Amino acid sequence: MKPTFYITTPVYYVNDIPHIGHAYTTIAADVLARYHRLTGSQAFFLTGTDEHGQKVQQAAEKQGVAPQAYTDNIVTRFQSLWKTLTISNDDFIRTTETRHTKVVREILDTLLKNGDLYENAYEGWYCLFDERFWTAKDIVAGNCPDCHRPVEQIKESNYFFRMGQHQDWLIKYIKSHPGFIRPDTRKNEVLGFLQQPLGDLCISRPKSRLNWGISLPFAKDYVTYVWFDALVNYISAIGYLNNDAEFTTWWPANIHLIGKDILTTHSVYWTTMLHAIGLEMPRSIFAHGWWTVDGEKMSKSRGNVVDPTAMAHEFGVDAFRYFLLREIPFGQDGDFSKSAMIQRVNSELANDVGNLLHRSLTMIERFAGGVVPLPKPSQDGNLEREIQETVGRMKDRLDTHLKALEFHRAIEEIWRVVELGNQYIERSTPWKLAKDREKHENLENVLYTQMEILYWLTLFFYPFMPQTAKAMATQLGITLHFSNPLLETPRWGMFPSGTTTAKGTPLFPRIETASVNLTPEIPVKPAPTSEIPLISIEDFMKIQLKTGKVVAAEAVPKSKKLLKLQVDIGIETRQIVAGIATKYTPEEIIGKLVIIVANLKPAKLMGVESQGMVLAAGDKEVEGLLSVVTSVEPGTKVK
Ligand code: MSP
Repeated sequence: MKPTFYITTPVYYVNDIPHIGHAYTTIAADVLARYHRLTGSQAFFLTGTDEHGQKVQQAAEKQGVAPQAYTDNIVTRFQSLWKTLTISNDDFIRTTETRHTKVVREILDTLLKNGDLYENAYEGWYCLFDERFWTAKDIVAGNCPDCHRPVEQIKESNYFFRMGQHQDWLIKYIKSHPGFIRPDTRKNEVLGFLQQPLGDLCISRPKSRLNWGISLPFAKDYVTYVWFDALVNYISAIGYLNNDAEFTTWWPANIHLIGKDILTTHSVYWTTMLHAIGLEMPRSIFAHGWWTVDGEKMSKSRGNVVDPTAMAHEFGVDAFRYFLLREIPFGQDGDFSKSAMIQRVNSELANDVGNLLHRSLTMIERFAGGVVPLPKPSQDGNLEREIQETVGRMKDRLDTHLKALEFHRAIEEIWRVVELGNQYIERSTPWKLAKDREKHENLENVLYTQMEILYWLTLFFYPFMPQTAKAMATQLGITLHFSNPLLETPRWGMFPSGTTTAKGTPLFPRIETASVNLTPEIPVKPAPTSEIPLISIEDFMKIQLKTGKVVAAEAVPKSKKLLKLQVDIGIETRQIVAGIATKYTPEEIIGKLVIIVANLKPAKLMGVESQGMVLAAGDKEVEGLLSVVTSVEPGTKVK
């Protein structure tokens, strides 16, 4: 039997359209669900919408439509966002569905029968925004202590859940289950809250005040308090009181992923509700931090709400997913800015990953006719062993980090393999091996190892960037069924030799800052006045500059100015004819690191073909060749 893994996100309020906060929790849950499926678990990933309550009723009223019609419309915004972000949820629950409302009513009936609910006249201070009562000592200068809006005094009869009687049990449970509420700072927060006497919870609202909710089965003039309704989604969706086999397969949930603002409702209301109906606790409740935007709290009034659909369209779905989980440790608050995102996309995705794939496939094409060679069993290189060991340890490391929800650490581990892959190319110099017939076996082993590294990276990337993983598999020429547990028992040597690769377009095109509106971070400066015609950054970026090492040089016959150079640029050696003979002799130029224009159309100078151009300072006469301050490998991009 496969181990099971049940993960949930909050059900999101439909009083507004989705924003980056919603996307964050859902993407994190998606990564965990995909990782568990890939490593052999049977996963169930639940998300959905919270459709009752005052906020939704008010939003519908504002638009002049019935609440159901209003929610039917907004819910599609969430569903289509999850499609855009390639979210692999197994179910989507709406709290207005009968399968949910029925279970809420049955639970209420049971609680009443067991004496866990009682009716009482109540007088208290009510916060309309938070939909909850406060006592006189809670309120601050007539305002809600939570949202700081004015509260009003209300006297009415209501139903109460005997929450207070579970207090001692809850404290003991939290203390004896270290991973139950995470991170530890949040656990301590809850234990701090529980140092005060825990009161009973008002779980009804008179219909005279709010009618958009689930009617109490035993009191038709009341609806259920929205949290007492919404939290139940975690069990109603998996067949509680309806399908025992299904329910026992999934419950208790492994992780309820939530934001830090809804910690109390989950770790106190929900846990005591479950305790009262005799169900096991979820294995873990993890509260993540909040995003600010360019250093400010995200809010409609500030006009800085980040729209995840727009981000995905502007930067790519996988780049957006990657950034959210790479940028900040999951339990902490963090700041979202487009410039931070562009930086990561360009250096970590376009550069590190894009280059590795592109260079490797170029070499397979150039040195092996596009067909992945068979490695020889005698291979015993140290470099290869180091790579095999690193990759071999990866699954354990990913397991550890993802169990702790340290997404950024898991990504750092994966990047170690990316770096190792790039270093491997530099250190094993396949372009040199290709020139030496006797090193042919070596070359084949190196090329194979490159493909194997890319194979493993494809699997490691998959939970974080599923579309990228699929595109990589296509370029590698292999078919991978990611719904299979491909990472269950990893072993080196999985890449099928004889595969014909299919190099395609770069996975992550560089994002040019000039094409992105970064306001308010970078104010637009007036264009400088100059006599030199200005070119756009796009024009400049068309020029590919690279470092190259001059490996041979000779004078071009009958020319005083020209030298014929052979320049090693990593994956190949270029012949370049340069007008530098008045400044340099062939002997002194050999071994120098120069900068070349790598994508210049070939041309003939004095009948000799030149495949590029070296850069030099000077106007009419060459005064000095351009180089780099620190020695770098030939073929390094110059930006
Ligand atoms: N409907 C309730 C949850 C009921 S679960 C039984 C609710 N919905 S919500 O739509 O308001 O919020 C959903 C989630 O979005 C919360 O986990 C919240 O923490 C998260 N976020 C809202 N703004 C956020 C940021 N700025 N940053 C990160 N997450 C944020 O609460």
